[in-house]
Amino acid sequence: MDTILFSQPLSDADLDRAAAIIRGGGLLGIPTETVYGLGADGLNETAVLHIFEAKGRPQDNPLILHVPDAGWLPKFCRDIPHAAYALARRFWPGPLTMILPRRDIVPLRTTGGLETVGVRCPDHPLTLEIIRRAGVPIAAPSGNTSGRPSPTTAGHMVEDMWGKIDGIVDGGPCGVGVESTIIDLTVTPPRLLRPGGLPLEALEEVLGEVAVDKAVVSKLADGERPKAPGMKYRHYAPKAPVTVVTGDAGQSAAYIAAHCEKEAGIICFSEFLPLFAGHEVHDLGPMADLSEQARRVFDALRRFDETPVPEIWAQCPGSEGLGLAVGNRLKKAAGFHIVEALP
Ligand code: TXA
Ligand code: MG
Repeated sequence: MDTILFSQPLSDADLDRAAAIIRGGGLLGIPTETVYGLGADGLNETAVLHIFEAKGRPQDNPLILHVPDAGWLPKFCRDIPHAAYALARRFWPGPLTMILPRRDIVPLRTTGGLETVGVRCPDHPLTLEIIRRAGVPIAAPSGNTSGRPSPTTAGHMVEDMWGKIDGIVDGGPCGVGVESTIIDLTVTPPRLLRPGGLPLEALEEVLGEVAVDKAVVSKLADGERPKAPGMKYRHYAPKAPVTVVTGDAGQSAAYIAAHCEKEAGIICFSEFLPLFAGHEVHDLGPMADLSEQARRVFDALRRFDETPVPEIWAQCPGSEGLGLAVGNRLKKAAGFHIVEALP
């Protein structure tokens, strides 16, 4: 299949062509502030099936719907609590997905057979405009091939999807870099299913008590089912095995230096780059800059696949703010193989 690359700046005609791909049942790589998505008409079962095929994604793993504003919520969701509108007012457009009961117009193919649907309003002007012109919600998982790190540049989208989909819209590098935070509003108290670009602390300001799903912080036992089906898969996995080292940054750096092989790949905070001279190193950003770490984490994981490193070691931020999401992505890449560096 020929893939069209829509490069910046997009003309009015480009936006129409991109929207026509969605309306015609095609597949389109779309930029968002979190990660790039692999989009299709979320109400068209055949188009949605093609998303699963292009990604190699298990069919029981539901897709989220992208809408241009909260006014679209009642078209696709029932029994919408007050809290949903309060969250939308405060955080949309932005990196927050809400799980709500679905209306019948949303195919079970989209929701992976669930009676609920995830909805979010992405903060990217091109994608918002394409959704409005298409006139339908865009179902979009992250645009990576299943099992690879999520794409945070149009280049990553090209790596995974060139020749497999109708178009890719280049909207520049993603400003947030990790996927949206997912909150389940069908239960009391609301439950965090995936930490992401919106910190848990921000949700708590609006919602009060928020429960945190077990799959966020630990590996599930065999046969245990997480509430977000996607959390059970070992996502974001580089080819080499990953070990995450938690604890004080100075101590985790010293631990890695003492235990890693000579050829090991390293993901470390900028401050510790000199310690790992001679290694294949990816700089996660300054220790105190969690936003920068979120922007870099997937690219760091992805780049190791181009190198022959036999093992990867990663430093890990603490769990405050965006640190919860950055640490979760690193730990999932490691299959929750975690060591705590002690003083
Ligand atoms: O930032 C994002 O959310 C990106 C961009 C493209 O918007 N999208 C994204 O989609 O990360 P995806 O499919 O890679 O991850 C969505 C997660 C999956 O773990 C899925 O299982 C979960 O959301 N999910 C979707 N609908 C759900 C539902 N009704 N109930 C529980 N979990 C759901
Ligand atoms: Mg994904």
